[in-house]
Amino acid sequence: MDGKVALVTGSSRGIGAAIARELAARGAAVAVNHRDSADAAEQVVKEITAAGGRALAVRADVTDAGAVREMAAQTEAGLGPVDILVLNAHGFDEKVRALPLEVDVEALASVVSGQIRATMLPVQAFVPGMVERGGGSVVFISALIARDPWPMSITHGAAKAAMELAAKVLARTEARHGVRVNTVIAGITRTQASDQIPQDKLQKQAALIPMQRIGEPEDVARAVAALAGDDTAYVTGAFVPACGGALII
Ligand SMILES: NC(=O)c1ccc[n+]([C@@H]2O[C@H](COP(=O)([O-])OP(=O)(O)OC[C@H]3O[C@@H](n4cnc5c(N)ncnc54)[C@H](OP(=O)(O)O)[C@@H]3O)[C@@H](O)[C@H]2O)c1
Repeated sequence: MDGKVALVTGSSRGIGAAIARELAARGAAVAVNHRDSADAAEQVVKEITAAGGRALAVRADVTDAGAVREMAAQTEAGLGPVDILVLNAHGFDEKVRALPLEVDVEALASVVSGQIRATMLPVQAFVPGMVERGGGSVVFISALIARDPWPMSITHGAAKAAMELAAKVLARTEARHGVRVNTVIAGITRTQASDQIPQDKLQKQAALIPMQRIGEPEDVARAVAALAGDDTAYVTGAFVPACGGALII
């Protein structure tokens, strides 16, 4: 990925930070996007530069159109035009979990809207430049629950299912312009959120996964890097589960 510029939304921690590190380790200059956690984003930048890479922290709430436009300008000025866009930040409140007959429909609509904004605003800010330059690679981060729902997952599941549809349409419309669009589907992955789950509960969940362990952020990051890079130059519209066998497509 030498000479390429990547932007990873929501990469100050968790899966996004692992993706930023992985793309940088493969030679890309990486814009590390965050919303509130400037110190954590700077830490990721420091780790990348200490390892000999190039990175820049860029603040923007990816659900805010103006902020996304500013982030695009700041990234281009600091690192150059973006070749690889990773849509990792989901743009909704994790705490909305409810059964379908009980869910607050306004909250459901707001979660889906957050994911759509966090997806389509960066797409519209970065993909036209890729089209003009004749190529680029977009990787969406989806979740197992979009395809294998559990009772409280209507909000997250609907949001990610909407995002997956956007990925399919974009793959179709932009292929002729050399822009590839692929999706990595994460299962339960070790992050700050999973660290809050009691160990015994986490072990029970791991036992249900064919590979008998939950994912590490690096498992998702390596799948993203494979789809983002030129080894998969003829692959677009793909959905790759990084779920330890919990999802077979
Ligand atoms: N963890 C899992 O088990 C799992 C499973 C399946 C799918 N996923 C998907 O993987 C992706 C990453 O999940 P994660 O667990 O790594 O998330 P996380 O630990 O909650 O990290 C979220 C990252 O996104 C940033 N962020 C949040 N809202 C933002 C916004 N509106 N604008 C810009 N940045 C924003 C956060 O930065 P700030 O703190 O600055 O806001 C942080 O860097 C998500 O799309 C999630 O749905 C995760």
